[in-house]
Amino acid sequence: MLHHVKLIYATKSKKLVGKKIVLAIPGSIAAVECVKLARELIRHGAEVHAVMSENAQKIIHPYAMEFATGNPVVTEITGFIEHVELAGEHENKADLVLVCPATANTISKIACGIDDTPVTTVVTTAFAHMPIMIAPAMHSTMYDHPVVKENIEKLKRLGVEFIGPRFEEGKAKVASIDEIVYRVIKKLHNKDMKGLRVLVTAGATREYIDPIRYITNASSGKMGVAIAEEAEFRGAEVTLIKTKGSVPSFVENQIEVETVEEMLEAIEKELDSKRYDVVVMAAAVSDFRVKNPALVKIKSGEPLVLELEPTPKIIDRIKELQPDAFLVGFKAETALKEEELISEAKKQIERAKSDLVIANTLKAFGSDENEVILVGRNFIKKLPRMNKRELAEKIWDEIAGIIRG
Ligand SMILES: Cc1cc2nc3c(=O)[nH]c(=O)nc-3n(C[C@H](O)[C@H](O)[C@H](O)COP(=O)(O)O)c2cc1C
Repeated sequence: MLHHVKLIYATKSKKLVGKKIVLAIPGSIAAVECVKLARELIRHGAEVHAVMSENAQKIIHPYAMEFATGNPVVTEITGFIEHVELAGEHENKADLVLVCPATANTISKIACGIDDTPVTTVVTTAFAHMPIMIAPAMHSTMYDHPVVKENIEKLKRLGVEFIGPRFEEGKAKVASIDEIVYRVIKKLHNKDMKGLRVLVTAGATREYIDPIRYITNASSGKMGVAIAEEAEFRGAEVTLIKTKGSVPSFVENQIEVETVEEMLEAIEKELDSKRYDVVVMAAAVSDFRVKNPALVKIKSGEPLVLELEPTPKIIDRIKELQPDAFLVGFKAETALKEEELISEAKKQIERAKSDLVIANTLKAFGSDENEVILVGRNFIKKLPRMNKRELAEKIWDEIAGIIRG
């Protein structure tokens, strides 16, 4: 591995370690994104091989992709039969062909089995036996072409997965790099949670004082989002109930709520209509709300006294609605000694019948890292400080261990 590639290799996660990805680049202007995309895939541990159509080479020079990937770039099919080397049926083949940014031309050729560019030849070679993902990018009138549309539908029927596009400024723009990386990880991840249905809450609720002012807390939603995304990577069917203003997430099934009342309503609706195997309550739900919120904006300049009342304890409802679900709660307290934090967690186990409580100090709010103590019904495990993504992996390993006995 080249030194400058080694410097970024798996620095963000190990999710794609051991995965070989063919980045097949057609001639869309969005090819300028491919340097960053390749580097981002490498940051998650992937080995990336670029293949470029003749038209892509008019937009970005192959040197840029050589630099980005640290590997030779396929710009033509030669006597080395590069298409077979990358996408033929043998032990060194790639794990995925990602066509990005896919032109109307390349999409339609793939749909018709035509292969007359390095990109389409690699795709044709891969089609019957390897996963293929396509991220389209084109002017919106090209995307609206009925034949292009039909070709996309045909490819979907044949098992090709599409990522995006995003519709902006009259264009069907290529999906964001973050979304593409998310979808690639989801595609290639091992699926040890397949068959499990999981409900996760994330973020800080808001309780209104008047129509524009509210009481909230410092939770960013990062921990809950990391937990939900990790479960989706592992193949679980995930519902993420996320508060307005939390960090964004690419989890497919999301419900946005704002207040405790809305969160409770959304949870009750989910638990009434589907059986969930695991419920993770990672949202920082407000303990109080304003007793009589003003219907119009409160005038400034005068002292204001607010009367607060306790909100319903959402976590206490979970086992009433689904006694068999594995319930994971969070407990965050300031200025408590470790033993006190553990005893608070145990109280939650008693009261809400949680199966696992993740206890932390409030220092983690908004941060990318967290340091927690896992408190189970008959065990206590202290974990070292780590990134919230890594912690999400550990939490699911722990839950899977307990569920499977
Ligand atoms: C600067 C430039 C930008 C282009 N951007 C797009 C695009 O975003 N989407 C698209 O479908 N075609 C785009 N085209 C047209 C394609 O390059 C053209 O359809 C070509 O035949 C695609 O060949 P390929 O799919 O083999 O790379 C662009 C052309 C140029 C010169």
